[in-house]
Amino acid sequence: MKINEAAKYLNTTPKTIRFYEQKGLIEPTKDETNQYRYFSENDLYRISTILALREIGISVSDIKSILENPNLTSNQYLDIQRSALFEQWIEMRDMIETIDQMLSQSKSNSFEEIHHLASHLKNLKGVRRKWQDRWNFDAQAIDYDENIKKEGHVFNVHEGYDEALAKVKEKVRLQTGDTVVDIGIGTGNLGSQFLSEGQKVIGVDQSENMLMKCKEKHPEIETRKGHFLALPLLDLSADAIVSSYALHHLTDDEKLLALEEMDRVLKPNGQICIADLMFEDDKHRKRVLKNFEKAGNQLAIDCILDEYYANKSTLVDWLEGKGYQVETIQFNVILGLIYAKN
Ligand SMILES: C[S@@+](CC[C@H](N)C(=O)[O-])C[C@H]1O[C@@H](n2cnc3c(N)ncnc32)[C@H](O)[C@@H]1O
Repeated sequence: MKINEAAKYLNTTPKTIRFYEQKGLIEPTKDETNQYRYFSENDLYRISTILALREIGISVSDIKSILENPNLTSNQYLDIQRSALFEQWIEMRDMIETIDQMLSQSKSNSFEEIHHLASHLKNLKGVRRKWQDRWNFDAQAIDYDENIKKEGHVFNVHEGYDEALAKVKEKVRLQTGDTVVDIGIGTGNLGSQFLSEGQKVIGVDQSENMLMKCKEKHPEIETRKGHFLALPLLDLSADAIVSSYALHHLTDDEKLLALEEMDRVLKPNGQICIADLMFEDDKHRKRVLKNFEKAGNQLAIDCILDEYYANKSTLVDWLEGKGYQVETIQFNVILGLIYAKN
């Protein structure tokens, strides 16, 4: 397809398409004799994804990094668009809820309250948008499974990994045909454990390469690009939500928003099971760090401080406040599990 046809087909202008070409976002083939550009079906998917992402306010440079791989498949383009739309949808929902609250406040004419709600909304938007992959999981995907088997000399962050994942599987009781969502699925080590009993497994991850690796190992898993803070799932669509070694990449504020998202997509009588790096509570955290300090284990301290290990008590309080019945396990000084049923 030539540029004019492509623009018409995508309801945009040739100028816009040329702009994205200049920015290096698309590379149509060029006929050197007459300089005509030719757009393949994959180019059209790519341009339509760029247009969709621009529509919801993502900057050109951010789009460039999202679409780093020039050979994404049409399904991957659609998956990226879905993820972005869920983010937008959740932001809109926050806005609508805030307006509803403002309208009810305005009856009592409390300007202060309204101002407070507006700042809360701004803050929420900030928290949802701020998260960044500081750990470059796309680069880790290739040898992640080998790396987790390696034992560090002085600090083994994956001590108890297999035991924790097996415990999640044991705790979560499902019927055939139920839907289980694994958030931060990585290469699929936890989610795949639910395949043998006929459950539908959906794996969510923010890393395209992790999702590709997961699909390669377990084609039966449905992978979805997405984020803890804007799950690419409709309300009340999951019987269980599981997650392992992923939540500690979110700050404490973000973790509570992530729990809210889990609560949104979970069906009544649903289950949440999280195995992750976490302390019992703040006292426990301080004690563990002190003990590493006494032992001169600076590596352990640096590893812990580079991430956001949870205080289990904070997550349990949140879940209990929402009416969940909660059980917890601590496998070792840094690894815990939370099982919650609503
Ligand atoms: C350490 S790996 C754990 C993978 C797997 N769950 C396991 O137990 O082996 C962390 C995974 O969580 C994903 N992740 C981290 N933060 C995330 C977020 N905010 N939203 C979605 N996925 C996230 C990463 O991309 C990565 O694949």
